Amino acid sequence: MGKGIETGELNVVTGAFGFTGKYITRRLLAEGKRILTLTGHPHRENPFGDRISVAPFNFDDPDALAASLRGASVLFNSYWIRFPRGPITYELATKNSKTLIRAARDAGVRRIVHISIANPSKDSPFPYYRGKAMVEEAIIASSIPYAILRPTVIFGTEGILINNIAWLLRHFPVFAIPGSGNYRLQPVYVEDVAETAVRAADADSEASTMSTIVDAAGPEVYSYNELVYLLAVAVGSHARVVHLPPRLTLVLSGLVGLALRDVVLTRDELEGLMANLLVSNGPSAGKTRLSDWVAQHADQLGTSYESELGRHYR
Ligand SMILES: NC(=O)c1ccc[n+]([C@@H]2O[C@H](COP(=O)([O-])OP(=O)(O)OC[C@H]3O[C@@H](n4cnc5c(N)ncnc54)[C@H](OP(=O)(O)O)[C@@H]3O)[C@@H](O)[C@H]2O)c1
Repeated sequence: MGKGIETGELNVVTGAFGFTGKYITRRLLAEGKRILTLTGHPHRENPFGDRISVAPFNFDDPDALAASLRGASVLFNSYWIRFPRGPITYELATKNSKTLIRAARDAGVRRIVHISIANPSKDSPFPYYRGKAMVEEAIIASSIPYAILRPTVIFGTEGILINNIAWLLRHFPVFAIPGSGNYRLQPVYVEDVAETAVRAADADSEASTMSTIVDAAGPEVYSYNELVYLLAVAVGSHARVVHLPPRLTLVLSGLVGLALRDVVLTRDELEGLMANLLVSNGPSAGKTRLSDWVAQHADQLGTSYESELGRHYR
């Protein structure tokens, strides 16, 4: 007999109404776990209804945050920001992450499964990657057993980057590739990330007692040129693909962002991509091929624009 929701162990997932956290939550519910999500949008309509409980992040009230985590065996942490905006900086996101880790320790959480990024480094020129490295360091120093997953770029129905490239290819007569387009990406499917995360927490698995750091990357590596070509063919794009100086593509994406009231691409994201940071140097955990997924989802891919500001700032 499967474990009922009422009797299953409690797991806390950040961002169960978001992207990766939603897929992790779905899998945990299917295993009979009780779920509490920590979120910046506790009142947002959610796909799980009352099957999960909800609490605000409470980063400014560590006692309340620890109270939310009390009794939880595992914390699945996906909290981070894509880019700084207004008062929400990488420094604040790092501080908030450290508050969350301390609260988990104070609450007696048995294990943290943390979603990081491929190639984090305290020496990185990019503050996203430096902040991620600092959060990893705080987890390692926390004395809580951990599994750190380092995804490259995650694809799936709600994914932003790949969907929005497809959207641009559907809606504009010209698509601009920054520079040569020879830099590479190794996209990983969100279900594969979620499966790896849930497996890393499984109380019956040997892996759950060890602390581990693994890349979460897919089985295919694309140059950016190849990725754009794959998507263009899949969505039947008639856009003329041109190569422009990276700075000019940033200006153009800034103009598109103004029209859409979103941030389409940041300078750091572009430079990180061009520095091949979205490729793993280790074995790939993901089995799902982007090419297969794109073929299966070609009809919907890029039909609507996915807005980062819409998700987190409105
Ligand atoms: N998406 C990718 O391609 C990708 C690639 C590599 C690594 N990652 C990492 O994987 C993790 C999950 O990414 P995701 O794309 O699935 O994220 P997400 O669901 O959009 O957000 C994850 C969590 O962070 C919170 N959050 C995000 N932006 C925020 C902001 N500006 N202000 C306040 N809170 C914010 C969300 O809050 P709410 O609960 O309020 O929504 C949610 O709890 C992140 O740590 C990310 O760095 C993602």
